[in-house]
Amino acid sequence: MISITNILIYSLFILSISKMSATRTAYKGNILAIIGMSVALIFGLISIKPEYQIYAITTILFGGITGIIGSQKTSISQLPQMVALLNGFGGLASGLIGISESINLTQPNFLQIFIIFTGCLTFSGSIAGFFKLSGLIKISDTETLHSTSIILLILSIIGSFYAYNGEIEYIISFALLSSLLGFCFILPIGGADMPIIISILNGLSGWCTTLVGFSIENSLLIIIGTLIGTSGSILTYIMTKAMNRHLLKVIFAPLNQHKEDTSQHTEQDIHKGTPQDAAFLMENAHKVIIVPGFGMAASGAQHELGNMANLLIQKYKVDVKFGIHPVAGRMPGHMNVLLAEADIPPEIIYGINEINPEFKTADIVYIIGANDTTNPLAKTKKDSTIYQMPILEVEQAKRILFVKRSLAPGYAGLDNPLFYEDKTLMLLGDGKEITKEIVTNLENDSK
Ligand code: TAP
Repeated sequence: MISITNILIYSLFILSISKMSATRTAYKGNILAIIGMSVALIFGLISIKPEYQIYAITTILFGGITGIIGSQKTSISQLPQMVALLNGFGGLASGLIGISESINLTQPNFLQIFIIFTGCLTFSGSIAGFFKLSGLIKISDTETLHSTSIILLILSIIGSFYAYNGEIEYIISFALLSSLLGFCFILPIGGADMPIIISILNGLSGWCTTLVGFSIENSLLIIIGTLIGTSGSILTYIMTKAMNRHLLKVIFAPLNQHKEDTSQHTEQDIHKGTPQDAAFLMENAHKVIIVPGFGMAASGAQHELGNMANLLIQKYKVDVKFGIHPVAGRMPGHMNVLLAEADIPPEIIYGINEINPEFKTADIVYIIGANDTTNPLAKTKKDSTIYQMPILEVEQAKRILFVKRSLAPGYAGLDNPLFYEDKTLMLLGDGKEITKEIVTNLENDSK
């Protein structure tokens, strides 16, 4: 009976992951995952001793209610922070199981010690990632943190030998050291590399679960953990490729520092435009490519963007395409999720390799809240965090319409020379408001 249930749960999770690979089917994927998790919880509850069931029910209710409230309060633009937190909780759960297993045994084995280390490291590293992504912590002295991490690593290795004796105070001290290490290790990493770190931590939380599965002989945890671990690892690989960064450089290189590029430019150096100008230019164009970035998510402009694309296609017969950089926004697939929410057809949404050859034939590129992913300095500025990151070749379009609120740099803290080009019209303001005004103009103008 149990094994049939397990097969059902594995199948639901595997099916759910396969559905999540495309925006169209991602919703179904989520539903399947919810069903899989519910079945796992119900059968897990049935299989434990009745005297413990009340604790399990309380925990499930607490976790469930917290999750529902958390998801309601989280806006789409805060999803990366949410993902970081969820990774952290996965690590925390594994670390706590490692601690309780170690305490219950007369002498913990290597596996339990390793679970405590990786679980606590994943937990605190993810919390550090959460703080950084939320902008709650900004680090200036990375050198001290690097040195502290090395000291903590040495102390953790020594601590692991003491924890091996199974004495509770040593186990707890080892867990605390590992947690501190995770926090200090992740904190100095910043700028353009944070998405990769979140993805590494995601994979790590999966592998921790797998180790716990081996430790407590639970095949469900082994399989689910491996699914999360491999998908996190594959995602890490895809992202390091997309950003042209070597994994070891991301983790260890001091160039991860968040450097603000102090631009000498003022608004006098740019050509300012209005939504009326933008509407006029786009309705008279043959081909428009829309490039969204983090600012599109922050302003929640996706529905207005959908309306704008629709009007251009239907009323003005313009060839409209969307170009999405793999790390646009603050998490993988960030833009795709938002565009899908606005019912923008996936057929007109292109990835970087497909859209780059198209820019030279585009009359207009409409960049909304995207900055680093379009910054040509990625090709030349060797000391920048985005050096050698492939960018969307927007500079090849005939005209550039750039929507953002100011001349401030993007996430990597780098000024963007495109703002000051003659062919660029800066539309300074909130992404949603500007696009809404363009839509009004497109509606009112006659063809
Ligand atoms: P960014 O380079 O971060 O630029 C976003 C721009 O949006 C900013 O320059 C900002 O300028 C503008 N903005 C913010 N709020 C806005 C609003 N309400 N209306 C209009 N504009 C607004 O974005 P990107 O091009 O998407 O690049 C992503 C960056 O984040 C990369 O460096 C990437 O490495 C990093 N990152 C990516 C991920 C993943 S996996 N996607 C995760 C973490 C970090 P103003 O302040 O002047 O408005």
